Amino acid sequence: MDKISIAIDGPASSGKSTVAKILANSFNFVYVDTGAMYRAITFLAIKHQVAFSDEEALAELTKRYPINFQQSVHGQLVFADGEDITQAIRQPDVTAAVSEVSAHRKVREELVEAQRQLAQLGGIVMDGRDIGTTVLPQAEVKIFLVASVEERAQRRYKENQEKGIEMDYEMIKEAIAKRDYLDSHREVSPLVQAADAELVDTTGMTIEQVVTKIKEVISSKGF
Ligand code: CDP
Ligand code: CDP
Repeated sequence: MDKISIAIDGPASSGKSTVAKILANSFNFVYVDTGAMYRAITFLAIKHQVAFSDEEALAELTKRYPINFQQSVHGQLVFADGEDITQAIRQPDVTAAVSEVSAHRKVREELVEAQRQLAQLGGIVMDGRDIGTTVLPQAEVKIFLVASVEERAQRRYKENQEKGIEMDYEMIKEAIAKRDYLDSHREVSPLVQAADAELVDTTGMTIEQVVTKIKEVISSKGF
């Protein structure tokens, strides 16, 4: 496989990270979870008591605390400010605030630059909201994953149950719909399908079916 860049965008719980990891493994590519980077800045803002509205101070955090990914037998770990924040960035307080933090232009400028550096050598699968439109507009393959909000909420509900976390289905659905709205309506790099991205509606599809579909798209482009 040529060292191409594969951009996977879409709303919350559309299956981006799950299929991106499988694709990266099967092609021996690097996987970059850009959502984890916005979550890390949100975590740092809470830790250092920076207001989610303070664009300058949030941008400073991104400069002061580089975010590192490390591979482990338990999957990808996220480090910043001297600690393993892999679990902490998935907590509800971070999820509730991340769309506000990620809407700031200066925060995005810093993180987009870091993401482009990670992708410099190619051989990458990167998932997020603006990879095909802004971060890697030259990516050879662009996928836009969607699914009904009900199915996405159901997936998160099941995921929580498997982790032993009890969370009301309606609350999960509301939180996802709110994040969809904020991410799609912000001024800077909103969540939108790139003109040259392939739309894959994963409603009713298994993970294996989605992976197969994306591999077909990749082959159809001659890779
Ligand atoms: O995994 P989940 O779909 O819950 O979200 P995520 O990919 O971890 O992203 C968390 C949040 O970061 C999103 O709701 C966006 O507000 C923001 N984000 C972004 O603005 N741009 C990206 N490229 C990736 C994430
Ligand atoms: O990264 P993103 O937020 O887009 O979604 P994810 O974390 O990859 O997927 C959310 C949950 O949905 C995970 O528990 C996946 O196993 C599950 N999933 C699924 O059941 N069917 C799919 N076609 C894709 C994901």
